[in-house]
Amino acid sequence: MAMSAPDLKPIYSGKVRDLYEVDADSMLMVASDRISVFDVVLSDIVPDKGRVLTALSTWWFEQTSSIIANHVISSDPTDLPDVAGDFAGRAMLVTITKPVRMECVVRGYLFGAAWTEYQASGTIGGFEAPTGMREADRLETPLFTPSTKAEEGHDMPLTKSQAVELVGSELYERARQSSMDLYEFGASHAASRGLILADTKFEFGLRGDDLLVIDEMMTPDSSRYWPADKWEPGSAPPSFDKQYVRDYMLATGWDKEPPAPPMPADVIVNTRAKYIEAYEMITSLAFSDWFDGAQHLR
Ligand SMILES: Nc1ncnc2c1ncn2[C@@H]1O[C@H](COP(=O)(O)OP(=O)(O)OP(=O)(O)O)[C@@H](O)[C@H]1O
Ligand SMILES: [Mg+2]
Repeated sequence: MAMSAPDLKPIYSGKVRDLYEVDADSMLMVASDRISVFDVVLSDIVPDKGRVLTALSTWWFEQTSSIIANHVISSDPTDLPDVAGDFAGRAMLVTITKPVRMECVVRGYLFGAAWTEYQASGTIGGFEAPTGMREADRLETPLFTPSTKAEEGHDMPLTKSQAVELVGSELYERARQSSMDLYEFGASHAASRGLILADTKFEFGLRGDDLLVIDEMMTPDSSRYWPADKWEPGSAPPSFDKQYVRDYMLATGWDKEPPAPPMPADVIVNTRAKYIEAYEMITSLAFSDWFDGAQHLR
């Protein structure tokens, strides 16, 4: 962490975000410009990516606060304690929770791991699915397909009974219902902006008995966004998310084991532009109006 604020004590460093201690109830969550593909952090960064993620998450958390409470206290740099100016726009002061050990994936379309599963077994997240579906087809109803929240390595898909066993039936049902409500809201807003929210992942945490949605929300890192006018079942749509980088990496012949090949300059530039375009399409705000801060944070 090159530019950590001197007064802040690091708690945890994930693939993309760094957490810093603030007090007993709150912490600072800082989104870096790191990018991970197939759970491998690349050696290159995408300038401004962390600021885009924080800007977009902040916007979605505000829009959805009447659906479910969230962990955001503030993303305004003037509300943050002793933060280096470099963190402005990337840092979010959040409520500390006990994370629910399940990644809450909602799928509205048949793609990625779900398409792979469907081709092999005819099921999606263990649920029976109609025969004859094509890649990127719309699902009749969105499906909740949770996975493990692996401490290390890859998240593994959970069947409903495995998920219930892991977190308990009451928590499973609350997280499932909130995820479905958030997805429905997000997909319908995205549609009004010419975008398909094909799938997304939420995380939840407990604060006492309260269930809060935590981490990030409906960003290009945690979601698949497709331009609606380019969607054609039977083929992979172009996307506003990491799929572009995944496709580049696979085309080099990379075996998904670290280290990943370097990203050429044009792939970095294009990825940055896609993230900013997604933010601006979804929010109708200009990214240049978001809080200023350092353009780079490894
Ligand atoms: N309000 C919160 N309370 C507790 N933990 C949180 C909260 N918000 C986010 N987190 C956790 O902070 C971490 C953010 O780091 P990041 O997104 O980089 O992790 P990751 O690499 O995706 O996942 P992980 O580190 O869990 O493998 C995640 O582990 C996330 O679950
Ligand atoms: Mg994460």
